[in-house]
Amino acid sequence: MKKDLLVLGIESSCDETSVSVVKNGREVLSNVINSQIDIHTRFGGVVPEIASRNHVEAISATTMQALKDAGITFNDIDVIACTYGPGLVGALLVGVSYAKALSYALNKPLVGVNHIEGHIAANYITFKELEPPFLCLIISGGHTHLVSIKDYTEFEILGKTRDDAIGEAFDKVARVVGLGYPGGPKIDNMAKGGKPNIQLPITHFDNLDFSFSGIKTAVLNLNHKDPNINKNDLCASFEKAVTEMLLENTKKALDKLKVKKLALAGGVSANSYIREQFSKLGEEKKIKVYYPNIQLCTDNAAMIASAGYYNYINGNTSDLYLNAIPNLKIK
Ligand code: KG4
Ligand code: ZN
Repeated sequence: MKKDLLVLGIESSCDETSVSVVKNGREVLSNVINSQIDIHTRFGGVVPEIASRNHVEAISATTMQALKDAGITFNDIDVIACTYGPGLVGALLVGVSYAKALSYALNKPLVGVNHIEGHIAANYITFKELEPPFLCLIISGGHTHLVSIKDYTEFEILGKTRDDAIGEAFDKVARVVGLGYPGGPKIDNMAKGGKPNIQLPITHFDNLDFSFSGIKTAVLNLNHKDPNINKNDLCASFEKAVTEMLLENTKKALDKLKVKKLALAGGVSANSYIREQFSKLGEEKKIKVYYPNIQLCTDNAAMIASAGYYNYINGNTSDLYLNAIPNLKIK
């Protein structure tokens, strides 16, 4: 019988220090997430240097907790996987250095994981039956990508944002409207009490690229001109406009690829309006739409361990020269 493979995943690309143990790429034995949100909230966003220092303080205890929750020791681990980009360089370096030290000390293989590939893999944990090929829309705080998932480690980028990432636009709008950081979940709630009755400009491209800065600026200007504008309606209209842009490109990509499976990934895929609209799209196009469990949408190490597992079984291991790459692209 094939031996089970336990991967220790480490994530530190932004403001979450997270460590997880995942069995055979799909079964989460532990997933400890140490969020720094409370620390950064008072600054209205993530302060990179403060994030790095807090990762240093948290990484050992978070790792010990992940082992304890999984009921294992370091000796039971088969592979060590860590995010090495994209993200904040100082924050990434903490996870990469810690993973390299563990790999050396324990004499276990090391796998560097692309954070965006991690977000995609959150779907493998949520849906045990999901296998490539499928289309994936990655919508997070730092990324907006429409990707053809050809195989577990083979990707083709079909479209991406030309300016802001969608989550960045959510966070900026929330800050200006007075909702605070992180803005996504707050806009999600505000929009539920409003009507999408304000027309906002949507940019259309010939290819599958996205643009969110025009929509964001229009919202900021409306709020500036009339500080008493109905914030619920403004949030609902913002969500409707960005979702229209996501739907338009996703429909084009589905027609082009002729795949029957669509997965959403990244923090913004937790948004209830977006989920509702994509479910409608699924019914209309007669395709299955997958969304990660809410707690796996935002940054966590289980998704990194899962992506690490597929890289490892496909021979993509790293050596001790692995370095943080802040602007790492997906292959
Ligand atoms: O994937 P993630 O944790 O970090 C990156 O890799 O960038 O995504 C964080 C982003 C933030 O911009 C946050 O506001 C957004 O995800 N977000 C949401 C929701 N929950 C988190 N955006 C819209 N609706 C939500 N419910
Ligand atoms: Zn992320």
